[in-house]
Amino acid sequence: MKVIHQPVLQDVVLDMLNLRQDGTYVDATIGPGGHSEHIIKSLGSAGRLIGIDRDPEALKIAGERLPDERVTLMRGRFSDMEHLLLQAGISQIDGILFDLGISMVQMRDLFRGFSFLSDERLDMRMDRGQAISAWDVVNQYSGKELETILKEFGEERLAHKIAQAIVRQRSRKTIDSCSELSKLVAGVYGWRGKVHPATRTFQALRIEVNRELEQLDAGLDTSVRLLKKGGRMCVISYHSLEDRKVKHFFAENAKKGTIKILTKKPLIPQQEERRVNPSSRSAKLRAAEKYDA
Ligand SMILES: C[S@@+](CC[C@H](N)C(=O)[O-])C[C@H]1O[C@@H](n2cnc3c(N)ncnc32)[C@H](O)[C@@H]1O
Repeated sequence: MKVIHQPVLQDVVLDMLNLRQDGTYVDATIGPGGHSEHIIKSLGSAGRLIGIDRDPEALKIAGERLPDERVTLMRGRFSDMEHLLLQAGISQIDGILFDLGISMVQMRDLFRGFSFLSDERLDMRMDRGQAISAWDVVNQYSGKELETILKEFGEERLAHKIAQAIVRQRSRKTIDSCSELSKLVAGVYGWRGKVHPATRTFQALRIEVNRELEQLDAGLDTSVRLLKKGGRMCVISYHSLEDRKVKHFFAENAKKGTIKILTKKPLIPQQEERRVNPSSRSAKLRAAEKYDA
């Protein structure tokens, strides 16, 4: 079955980017190319779109979807972006989009170990070339390190208990699959509810494995440096840790006079989008314009 990833807040993104026909744009999280497909339709023949992703499988899908000479695809992380763009001869851009997290294609690929229902090995690497996977974190980090990650990246109130349960379990046998870990967390909670209690644990592991918060910092800094005066940046985040970071970054830079915030409050999907695409439910979009070039 082909998994479709619906681009989130698609019209709002186009509106906020305020595209110029001949502009140079970066989709820093091109994924399967949903947003980019719409961005490229709005550009003229001199327009350019650079699509970046750390996941080579996402780039392959994007490449098949966007066979267009105005599109350049590059593999890398946010922290590599400036270097990659310079390699492509680009030192200034008109706009940039970050649609954070993982795509449905990655989520549904059970072999990649993102989904807590799967019996596959714990993995969660966006780029399978990375050295450390969720299996390493769960089976090799100390109890204290696990607790800190669960607290900081999962905002998990039972961080201590879950870390202890992991340490106990793995002293008997390594915790190998996603479902083993989610059952363990459910056991700590004595869970009967609707939202799976392992959601926060999996979020924490994914953030740790992919260094998502450090990457976001690097991406935001680079964007402000690369944007031309009047250029726009749009960030869609899916959990409060990311959104808080974006909010503070925007506020700090607005204070310094480098950007103008375009979204006093984050923009969220309308009811209809949330109904049709449940994974858009937690999305928050913040946008800003480069002020002082
Ligand atoms: C939510 S998906 C993007 C979906 C895309 N906007 C669409 O509509 O098809 C996020 C993508 O960003 C990539 N990604 C996340 N963090 C990244 C980082 N630090 N550097 C590069 N790519 C990243 C993931 O691999 C994933 O493919």
